[in-house]
Amino acid sequence: MIAVTDLKKVYRQANRDIRALDGVTLSVPADSVHGVIGQSGAGKSTLVRCLALLDRPTSGSVEVNGVELTSVRANDLRRARRRLGLVFQHANLFDSRTVAANVAYPLELAGAERAGREAKVAGLLALVGLGDIGGAYPAQLSGGQRQRVGIARALATDPDVLLCDEPTSALDPSTTGEILELIAALKARLGLAVLVITHEMGVVKRICDSVSLLEHGLVIQSGTIVDVVGDFGSRLSENLIGLPPSATVDPALGATIEVLDTTGPGDVPALAAAGGSLGVDLPILAGTIEHLGGTTFHRLRVLVPRPLDPVEVVARLHSLGARAAVSGPASTAGVAR
Ligand SMILES: Nc1ncnc2c1ncn2[C@@H]1O[C@H](COP(=O)(O)OP(=O)(O)OP(=O)(O)O)[C@@H](O)[C@H]1O
Ligand SMILES: [Mg+2]
Repeated sequence: MIAVTDLKKVYRQANRDIRALDGVTLSVPADSVHGVIGQSGAGKSTLVRCLALLDRPTSGSVEVNGVELTSVRANDLRRARRRLGLVFQHANLFDSRTVAANVAYPLELAGAERAGREAKVAGLLALVGLGDIGGAYPAQLSGGQRQRVGIARALATDPDVLLCDEPTSALDPSTTGEILELIAALKARLGLAVLVITHEMGVVKRICDSVSLLEHGLVIQSGTIVDVVGDFGSRLSENLIGLPPSATVDPALGATIEVLDTTGPGDVPALAAAGGSLGVDLPILAGTIEHLGGTTFHRLRVLVPRPLDPVEVVARLHSLGARAAVSGPASTAGVAR
């Protein structure tokens, strides 16, 4: 697990302070993927550099499995870094080394015996699906294969945390999918805490269990995918699973509510259960259905026909485990948003 607490990084430039990180707090448990998404200048690269101990934060702490990394003395930095595997946008391989020798590099730095290194490298290459190309050189590989080598190298020191900085930004869409699948599979197999820094919402949708939105060095929204999507009207909710527009509803017909229902295989959607138990049809006016991380998200705008009280329908949906809120027109409702 990695826990970042109140991390700050201030750059001094021409008599002016630039607060690149202004108090970032987040944590990633083992066996999960957390995304940090932000636009250009948000502080993503600064965060990566501070977490990877390539740059000293101004204040705050970074703990990996209970060990505080920010207070490590200079000569212990190399050992501390082994707790974190780093995956970069461009794999940054040594062109003059074979694939196997690239993966072996961190093991050489750690002083591992040659025989042990070779067995370890063979295992790592098999793990990332590159069992037979250990003798090839980086120039002979595709972008996706190079990134697999980079991931194998990041795992060489058995890290607890995998820190991925824009891991797929240089790849085409289908290779992006393969690399994200590989990261998710490795997370589950090795129980890794994975932190993915990205500017692409598609990456968050595909592999993240939780997400933080970084802006001007601050986390302005954070939570599990279910929590942030259920926070209707929030930036991450609208960006992850927005609703298509729908025509304004005549208040004479009723009120509209917004619903987020999550279902696994075999579950009955809460909206159907609510309508059934209330003995009414609850027509869907607009909706988006997405499959994220094994869960199906139904984000719906629903008409609650008069004279039914939308507040009662919202309460019924809550009792069935869905998120819901009255969205308007709030003609019969006491709770408008
Ligand atoms: N070494 C530095 N000296 C001074 N200011 C810096 C330094 N590094 C970053 N900054 C500033 O800190 C802020 C955050 O920069 P950072 O590179 O972390 O953003 P980013 O989210 O990675 O952006 P991008 O998506 O464009 O890579 C910016 O305002 C940037 O100008
Ligand atoms: Mg950057």
